Amino acid sequence: MGNRYTFIMASFLVISSMLSAQDKNKDVFIEGLMEQMTLEEKIGQVSLFTTDWESTGPTIRDTYKKDIASGQCGALFNAHTVPFTRELQKIAVEETRLKIPLLFGYDVIHGYRTIFPIPLAESCSWDLDLIEETARIAAKEASSAGLHWTFAPMVDISRDPRWGRVMEGAGEDTWLGSRIAEARVKGFQGPDRIGQTDAVVSCLKHFVGYGASTAGRDYHYTEISALTMHELYLPPFKAGLDAGALTVMTAFNDINGMPATAHKPLLNDLLKQTWGFKGFVVTDYTSINELVEHGIAADERDAARMSLNAGVDMDMQGGLFQAHLANLIESKENTLDQLDDAVKRILSIKYDLGLFEDPYKFSDQTRYDSIILHTAHRKVAREMAQKSFVLLKNEHQLLPLSKENDQVILLGPLLDTQVDLMGAWSAAGEGEDCISIQKGIDDYLGGNKSLKVKKIGAFDNSMLSEDQINQALELASDTDIVILTMGENRDMSGEAASRANPVIPPSQTQLLSALKSKDKKVVVLLMNGRPLIMTEVDSLADAIIEMWWPGVEAGPAIAEVLYGDVNPSGKLTMTFPRSVGQIPIYYNERNTGRPHIPGIKWNTQFIDESNDPLYPFGYGLSYTSFDYDNLNVSCNPCLLEEPITVSVNLSNTGLYKGREVVQLYIRDKHGKTTRPAKELRGFETVELNPDETVMVKFELNKSDFLHLDMELREVFQAGDFEIMVGGHSQDVLSVNIVIEN
Ligand code: NOJ
Repeated sequence: MGNRYTFIMASFLVISSMLSAQDKNKDVFIEGLMEQMTLEEKIGQVSLFTTDWESTGPTIRDTYKKDIASGQCGALFNAHTVPFTRELQKIAVEETRLKIPLLFGYDVIHGYRTIFPIPLAESCSWDLDLIEETARIAAKEASSAGLHWTFAPMVDISRDPRWGRVMEGAGEDTWLGSRIAEARVKGFQGPDRIGQTDAVVSCLKHFVGYGASTAGRDYHYTEISALTMHELYLPPFKAGLDAGALTVMTAFNDINGMPATAHKPLLNDLLKQTWGFKGFVVTDYTSINELVEHGIAADERDAARMSLNAGVDMDMQGGLFQAHLANLIESKENTLDQLDDAVKRILSIKYDLGLFEDPYKFSDQTRYDSIILHTAHRKVAREMAQKSFVLLKNEHQLLPLSKENDQVILLGPLLDTQVDLMGAWSAAGEGEDCISIQKGIDDYLGGNKSLKVKKIGAFDNSMLSEDQINQALELASDTDIVILTMGENRDMSGEAASRANPVIPPSQTQLLSALKSKDKKVVVLLMNGRPLIMTEVDSLADAIIEMWWPGVEAGPAIAEVLYGDVNPSGKLTMTFPRSVGQIPIYYNERNTGRPHIPGIKWNTQFIDESNDPLYPFGYGLSYTSFDYDNLNVSCNPCLLEEPITVSVNLSNTGLYKGREVVQLYIRDKHGKTTRPAKELRGFETVELNPDETVMVKFELNKSDFLHLDMELREVFQAGDFEIMVGGHSQDVLSVNIVIEN
């Protein structure tokens, strides 16, 4: 007993004397600490467990307090709030031999308590500064509640709206997804903010190719060619790492026969060796254990061996590093060096966070009380919601409505919901923080026109009874305009929420159809987490605003848009299909040898559906109209020694002030590998008054014209290129140029 006490004190003194030195040297500190660590203590650092507070996966762990006390757990997730994180941290720093503080992680995906629009919605704002700002606010709130680490951003590219997790991403485009990955990482943690109490470590996930799940079915197999992997799925991770992301989470999927969590060529060879990633790799929830079900590991012990060997540093909730690493290292199936490397990576981040100096520095009740759900945060949430709304249709300029002249009635299943407005992954968000559509509009109208409302319509496949329809029609009988909420409730998109048939629930479309049969003008407010198949709704509705799941300020945000105080400007970052059979559908298709020519049989087309989407990538209307003119490229032929300048004149030809997202696409007409017929390479956002014209300029550099050859080398191939600029991917002006070597 005496010996043990002396040893603990000695360790403590070693650590504190190192810490008190002015020039704290991280390497020396970590080496010193590691010299004192037993094998079991090291294994503790690579083990992450959930608490029983809430569950974000199929298992929970109710022994976590014991695990902490015995030094068998170095990090926790699903533990937050100041009292709880303090309570758990106290166990780690008071009851364990080496007093190594815990790292607290959580899925802070689109806000901690102030819930912002879902990430897919935010991407439709094309406002990188504002995206960075919402991530920063999320970090501020989360860190005050004791959190150090967010499992975000999700940077998975996906072209499949059946996959429920598209709501967490930035849409279908790799270039835009990369810019958004950078913005989110910067917002959460960087560039140099780790160690400050208002920043959290970010985690790029899910490495890699998870968005390619076959048929959009979650956790399903993915078949990804090397070219597609490097061209489509990897770049947002690289961009996020270059922006400073310190952790990466492995994906659940099997990639071409090797699950991501055991994928040595991708984890160790590419991420750690080639890209030089110095942070740590955490698995997804029990994804080491799942290697057995995948049929790649003989048993759980083998699964632990494979994943450490592949480059995994931390086991999320699987308990398999804890159960097997000691034995695997003793038997030399894994090496101590592998474990040491993982432990160093984790301790290094704890060190950077400043946890060895003050393990409680993030759990700060005073700071929490003063910032959580702050008015300034809500203001940003409202602005972001409004910028992410996409006006899909506005027949005869029905919108904006007039506060004075238009009598409206509000119908639909989502009109008074609060909790659904947050969407999936709502962290510490509370339904009661959210302002419903009904309340938002009612408050906006000042209560002097009592808005007639009726909750009707359902989320299942049922049809409405004749009685329900008649009631709705009766209620709308003396009103011309109906605002109809439609879409998904929040459980219908997200993890484990794939839909084989991502349509608007039939009862809702039936209600719309009944209203149209009585010649009502219908404004559809759509709330959902993914592109929906809604061809019938598009043909029936007079106006449609895609609101996604807009977060806490949904009601006021939409009221101000409906009545024209704010002009919508969002543009889609995922293509909306016309039918399921078109999926996967995306704008940057390769041309094929038989491109589509209408009316000709022998080319790429469906015989029962158009090739065209319902709404293309980049699409979104405004209350005003914009005209593009005079597209000009600074050279032809061009050399890439200097940037190429592209300019276009943009005029506001309508009646309202408006913001336009001007998009630039290129086409490389001849490459070492076939090139997409269009690739986004830039965008500018411009705000114009009616009758105003500006020249919008872009600069293109050599890197914009590179592509991968069959050996995955970045190459430039001189020749013909097309430069396109416009308001969406299917509405562009175009100029052909030659670029010489
Ligand atoms: C599983 C999800 O795939 C992942 O994104 C999330 O971070 C973890 N669960 C933890 O909740």
